[in-house]
Amino acid sequence: MLFLKITATNFQCDNLKIAAKAINDGKLVAFPTETVYGLGSDVFNSRAVSKIFEIKKRPLNDPLIVHIADKASVFDLSKEVSDKAVKLMKKFWPGPLTLVLKKSNIVSDIVTAGLDTVAIRMPENLIALSLIKLAKTPLAAPSANLFGRTSPTCAQHVVDDFSDKIDVIIDGGKCSVGVESTVLDMTEKIPVILRPGGITKEAIEKIIKFVKVNNENNYIIRSPGMMKKHYSPKAKLVLVEKKNGQIEEMKRLASDYIKKNKNVGIMTVVENERSFNNFNVKSIGEESNIRDCAINIFSVMRSFDTEKIDVIIAGAVEEQGIGIAIMDRLRKAAN
Ligand code: TXA
Ligand code: MG
Repeated sequence: MLFLKITATNFQCDNLKIAAKAINDGKLVAFPTETVYGLGSDVFNSRAVSKIFEIKKRPLNDPLIVHIADKASVFDLSKEVSDKAVKLMKKFWPGPLTLVLKKSNIVSDIVTAGLDTVAIRMPENLIALSLIKLAKTPLAAPSANLFGRTSPTCAQHVVDDFSDKIDVIIDGGKCSVGVESTVLDMTEKIPVILRPGGITKEAIEKIIKFVKVNNENNYIIRSPGMMKKHYSPKAKLVLVEKKNGQIEEMKRLASDYIKKNKNVGIMTVVENERSFNNFNVKSIGEESNIRDCAINIFSVMRSFDTEKIDVIIAGAVEEQGIGIAIMDRLRKAAN
């Protein structure tokens, strides 16, 4: 495994060329995006794409997102790009919005898990964009974690899950958004949010007025990858909803588990941290600055795993803006 460090100061370095060559040689490259790290391969190399599924232990019915570096590529990969889609691309690309569109013939079934649609996004992270440009091919890339586990928001998380199983890992520092992209199905008259993420529903509605949010039933059918259980730390995660007495309930649950000789971690926001002085507490950030909480959510779960915590007692956050994506991940982790 090759570990390549790329920073703002050595950005033009040969490391990116090495990584791009690896892509062209059919290898897998883990790379940073603004949301989470991706595990990428040349979208047109089906053998390489199938290696992604194998290494992640990901079921083959869970389609991958195609990452592009240039908006025009969407017209090669999709045969139906609506005006609404174009408006959204203009506003949010590059950025954490994935559009599900009717696929063109050049996209293979292994990438889309046999669906007639393809998920496409243009990431904002400069390393990701440069890698795609240098490789001169879009990259098929899921998050660079073992299937069902917490997504990686720094290079070390990728190493923790795969050690030397990946050909190249680019270390581009910590991800700036911290939760995955919003996945928006554009093939319906009224577009449907299949996964809440980095771009909020309100922001999308400012551009195209009407969007629906999937309900759990059509969730699985539309997007087979979006299982109810997902994003899980190794520890059991117990989620305590936001309400009067949330802190007391969290303390009570923590004490109960401690009595049963469990190693307990508390996951909360800065505002509540002091209430848990006697416990092993980690804060995800200030709730009043919810974007910060999104950045840290996965790394806090992972650091509890590193400490071999048995049970994480997590406090729900306000379900607004990117808080909706945070709560989606917490609910699935708790499931
Ligand atoms: O932010 C992100 O989206 C990150 C970074 C690396 O770009 N990627 C990511 O990929 O989260 P992944 O594979 O972990 O999640 C992609 C989700 C899956 O739940 C999958 O089911 C859904 O997108 N998806 C992919 N193609 C789809 C399609 N054609 N129709 C519906 N859902 C699709
Ligand atoms: Mg994932």
